[in-house]
Amino acid sequence: MIKKICVLTSGGDSPGMNACIRAVVRTAIWNGLEAEGAIGGFSGLVGGNFMSLDSRSVSNVMQRGGTILKAGRCPEFQKKKFRKIAYDNMVKRGIGGLVVIGGDGSFRGAELLCLEHRFQVVGVPGTIDNDIYGSDTVGFDTAVNTALSAIDKIKDTSISHGLPFFIEVMGRKSGFLALESSIAGGAEAALLPEVLHDFRDVKGAIVECRKKGKRSLIVIVAEGDESGGAKAAGERIRKATGIDYRTCVLGHIQRGGSPTARDRVLASRLGFRAVNELLRGTSGMMVGELEGKPTLIPLRDTWGKKKGIDVQDLEMVRAFSI
Ligand code: F6P
Repeated sequence: MIKKICVLTSGGDSPGMNACIRAVVRTAIWNGLEAEGAIGGFSGLVGGNFMSLDSRSVSNVMQRGGTILKAGRCPEFQKKKFRKIAYDNMVKRGIGGLVVIGGDGSFRGAELLCLEHRFQVVGVPGTIDNDIYGSDTVGFDTAVNTALSAIDKIKDTSISHGLPFFIEVMGRKSGFLALESSIAGGAEAALLPEVLHDFRDVKGAIVECRKKGKRSLIVIVAEGDESGGAKAAGERIRKATGIDYRTCVLGHIQRGGSPTARDRVLASRLGFRAVNELLRGTSGMMVGELEGKPTLIPLRDTWGKKKGIDVQDLEMVRAFSI
């Protein structure tokens, strides 16, 4: 029977991670367990860098971006030797279960820890990329809203000057962030890694919009798109059409900031469920939520299976650009 659990945030930070830590800690205490946090993700486990967490340790963190436990990528954890050290450190401290809040890279490490040491681990999807199979991810909604507020501002300038803007958003190899911010921001076109582009489509859309007298022209470029980013895409269009353009790379501004209500609620629900699953004996699984329904996905599937974009959404962007 688990007496103490540990929580960590791994990979890139995402808004809502603190709300999730709070949920994990308070659910643990509510159930009579002790809670600890590993500092800096898996490197905290390997280096024996832990902190005790009580109810007050997670007061007033819900509204804060980033993560109070610090985050990081830990290449060491890919090696068996370091996973063993992490396991030993947890056993030494009496930790019986681990909640990993992070993305697919983090879940690979988490699964190996389960398999090699039969250690109980449950994952919570936390990434602005929304690229985890079987669930929405904590931080995505906030990142879309952050991108959106930038797009709205850039649109003012685009309209004033009649200039096309190529705006690059994050998302690693996936286009969820680009697609949702295109729809919400009323972009004329989107370049996504999931879609093999006929570049002439975007060129055609821009020329067409110009002909129709549209002054605002926004093209959202996913950072992982084959075009090579906003600058390369804009330059290619300029060469083909002679139309001048501007670019904006939103970058890490999308990772920080106070989480939206949607992300706080999702983070709270998933943190609560993660501890309850540990108490039920679940291991090697991720708790998630998709279309408002709870999901429970094997860690292996979270990266082994591909979450696809809805191509109708992309068609909608094109349709609404007329
Ligand atoms: O996974 C989150 C993310 O922000 C991606 O969208 C982006 O590609 C990457 O992390 C950037 O990583 P880093 O902060 O290590 O440069």
